[in-house]
Amino acid sequence: MIAPALQVVAPSGPLLRAEHVTIDYAGEHGTVRATEDVGFDVYRGDRFVLLGPSGCGKSTLLKAVGGFIAPRAGSLRLGGKPITAPGPDRIVVFQEFDQLPPWKTVEANVMFPLLAGGMKKPEARERARHWLGKVGLARFADAYPHTLSGGMKARVAIARALAMQPEILLMDEPFAALDALTRRKMQEELQALWEEIGFTMLFVTHSIEEALVVGNRILLLSPHPGRVRAELNSHQFDLGSAGSVEFQAANERIHRLLFGDAVFPSTLSTPAYASHP
Ligand SMILES: Nc1ncnc2c1ncn2[C@@H]1O[C@H](COP(=O)(O)OP(=O)(O)O)[C@@H](O)[C@H]1O
Ligand SMILES: [Mg+2]
Repeated sequence: MIAPALQVVAPSGPLLRAEHVTIDYAGEHGTVRATEDVGFDVYRGDRFVLLGPSGCGKSTLLKAVGGFIAPRAGSLRLGGKPITAPGPDRIVVFQEFDQLPPWKTVEANVMFPLLAGGMKKPEARERARHWLGKVGLARFADAYPHTLSGGMKARVAIARALAMQPEILLMDEPFAALDALTRRKMQEELQALWEEIGFTMLFVTHSIEEALVVGNRILLLSPHPGRVRAELNSHQFDLGSAGSVEFQAANERIHRLLFGDAVFPSTLSTPAYASHP
């Protein structure tokens, strides 16, 4: 049996809280500021999207939530506890699925982090099979990664991450390398998995459309260095609404917010920092 995820926080509080987060990199020619004064709250069950143009610090923020880099200022808390290092409660799925070691079968790939965390082999195998089943890859447990399509590799990466039963799944443009059709399919499958399992996700993308389809809440970040432009609710959209008038209007509005001259047009006065349902 799969144990339920640990309850580390009261249901009413945010699972992840970022406050005034500023992150710098030390470069050859001085300091590069990746993000500045970024704040947001992710609640349990959220599909929270960080959206902004390339270079605005999305990956940097995700890595900081992962515990791989420390903010210069501000704080990141998970379940009220400061994030100081990587941990199994935060698992990252990157864009590069070639993170799957090619000499391990699909099943062994999913088992690997479980075994590394001290789980016994039979239990790790059972759990790997369970999650491979969830992503529709039960028949490919013994296959090697190089024999899989891009979409299948993405599914293995998702199964491997969910098998760890993290408090929050961190996804950094996980479908960016896929062709348009496969990308859509993966967005659909991710949505279906979320509906079935109800995990919490922090998802990074530079695609407005993907943000609207995947997310229930979207944080818009300005170009380099990334600052918060707005926070929007987007739970009303899914792949089925992708062509609708409302969807197009939301798309255009976000585009204006990200790239238009006005930083805070009047249309944004209400939805920003909308309260959690
Ligand atoms: N390891 C690094 N060293 C120095 N600068 C970096 C490093 N990683 C990212 N940056 C810089 O920080 C900024 C934000 O990068 P990144 O978080 O990768 O943006 P995004 O994911 O939104 O495209 C960019 O200007 C980038 O060049
Ligand atoms: Mg990035």
